Amino acid sequence: MIKASGVTKKVNTSEGPLVILEGIDLEINQGESVAIVGASGSGKTTLLSLLAGLDSPSSGTITIGDRYEITQMSEAERAEVRGEMIGFVFQTFQLLGSLTALENVMLPSELRGDASAAKVARDLLGRVGLEHRTGHYPRQLSGGEQQRVAIARAFASDPSVLFADEPTGNLDANTGAKVIDLLFELNADFGTTLVLVTHDARLAARCDRQLLIEAGKHLPEPQSPARVEARG
Ligand SMILES: Nc1ncnc2c1ncn2[C@@H]1O[C@H](COP(=O)(O)OP(=O)(O)OP(=O)(O)O)[C@@H](O)[C@H]1O
Ligand SMILES: [Mg+2]
Repeated sequence: MIKASGVTKKVNTSEGPLVILEGIDLEINQGESVAIVGASGSGKTTLLSLLAGLDSPSSGTITIGDRYEITQMSEAERAEVRGEMIGFVFQTFQLLGSLTALENVMLPSELRGDASAAKVARDLLGRVGLEHRTGHYPRQLSGGEQQRVAIARAFASDPSVLFADEPTGNLDANTGAKVIDLLFELNADFGTTLVLVTHDARLAARCDRQLLIEAGKHLPEPQSPARVEARG
């Protein structure tokens, strides 16, 4: 489903070149749930953006859906693959402030010209328990509610892969647990491959597999859960 080989990310900074990721090799199967864990600054968000085609590596290849070698594609081609196959939940939600909850969830399907966008969006908002908040703007929603709108939006285009960067990072324990349940429920119902970055040991433990990133390198599996927990 997703395959990365020899992926490296280097950037130039005012203090000179910086290697963020080096020699990342990984394979994620269809329907699998994988937690990417590791200390702050180890390169998790960078890796997620590369796997999702939001950014390009300095070297190495990434293939999605066994068909699309996104590292060979132009930005426009990658955008097309993202629209067709990929959902993304950002830690900071990234809802559009001028659109209501319903309009935010509808946007990706509307952009693809999907005539049933409104119905799909309403159904998904119901699934996340927000049928009574469809007309609210993001500023009128609580953090947990915004997170749930972001999850509904990510599932609106029925993605093959859902990437989530610390989906519970801004939530209290209770709401976080509900959001986790919801992610796995939708994951199971839609057969979606789930790749998430998390500092939450409970969330990581629920995934089929954990990938530990340390200083931009992927450590060999298997990882003991105790070690992951110790890293917080
Ligand atoms: N565009 C960039 N230019 C320079 N340095 C960058 C850039 N993007 C990321 N970095 C650096 O690369 C490292 C990895 O960043 P990344 O955001 O991937 O970490 P992370 O593992 O997601 O951390 P956190 O858990 O704190 O979110 C950090 O030290 C960061 O400062
Ligand atoms: Mg991060």
